[in-house]
Amino acid sequence: MVTIDADRCIGCFRCVEDCIVKVLQRGEKRPFIAPGNEKYCIGCQHCLAVCPAGAVSVDGVTPEMTAPVGQGASPEAMLESLRRRRSIRRFKQQEVDGATLEKLIDALRYAPTGCNDHRLRFAVVRTRTEMDEFRALNRKQLNFLLRSGLLKLFYPKISRYLDDLDRDLVFRGAPHMIVALTPKNAPCAAVDPVIALAQFELYAQSLGIGCCWCGFAFYAIRFSRAMKKLLAVPRDYRIGYVLLFGYPDVSYCRTTLPRKVKVTK
Ligand SMILES: Cc1cc2nc3c(=O)[nH]c(=O)nc-3n(C[C@H](O)[C@H](O)[C@H](O)COP(=O)(O)O)c2cc1C
Repeated sequence: MVTIDADRCIGCFRCVEDCIVKVLQRGEKRPFIAPGNEKYCIGCQHCLAVCPAGAVSVDGVTPEMTAPVGQGASPEAMLESLRRRRSIRRFKQQEVDGATLEKLIDALRYAPTGCNDHRLRFAVVRTRTEMDEFRALNRKQLNFLLRSGLLKLFYPKISRYLDDLDRDLVFRGAPHMIVALTPKNAPCAAVDPVIALAQFELYAQSLGIGCCWCGFAFYAIRFSRAMKKLLAVPRDYRIGYVLLFGYPDVSYCRTTLPRKVKVTK
């Protein structure tokens, strides 16, 4: 999986120092991989990324296929993105175009996963018409839960929102939704999908697209075989979490100021 270009390698051994699974070892002039050691490689590509000479390739990924590390966003710009992020619950009719959707989807690969597992999958609802199928299924679900009294039992505040049920309380009229799917046996199954969607949300915001984390949709989908079928959830995967998204039909003039977090130590 890991190959070292002997002509380029300058023997600095930075790749050896940064290999957490000790696949790369220090040779006399150059790093080497002891026979049988490759199976321990987790494919994190740190060896490729840390090499100043562009000598390391992993799994067919060459240095030329990757990008030089730039300056990144300034701390001020980063903080500004965090402060201006809002849950968007009112969306324009306009759908996000295919090219922008592909950009957003492609960036998901950069989200870290426990043990570099990277088996997350994502179901992306690309059209409003398709979203309407989820809305229709949800309407049936809610009617059943209302009639049976279960909705009141699980969500005592529901009477405040009964009017909203007709106005799509769950999917908020969103034109799109992304559902992160996680292998049931992934080492960090609970966390990986949430990290990926958090990154998605911030990148989407930079493209003028608003998101809403949706616990209601999470449960609606989790308990609906029909919705899972529409999302093509593989048998050994479960719903990680759900984000609604689209162009916001609301704009905010100021940031909010949530309570200061408590630090225990
Ligand atoms: C895990 C999670 C689940 C959420 N579920 C819903 C939801 O089902 N429906 C909804 O309208 N908002 C949902 N929200 C959005 C929160 O209500 C929102 O973050 C909060 O009202 C504060 O607004 P802000 O995100 O703009 O700061 C959820 C947020 C999180 C983090």
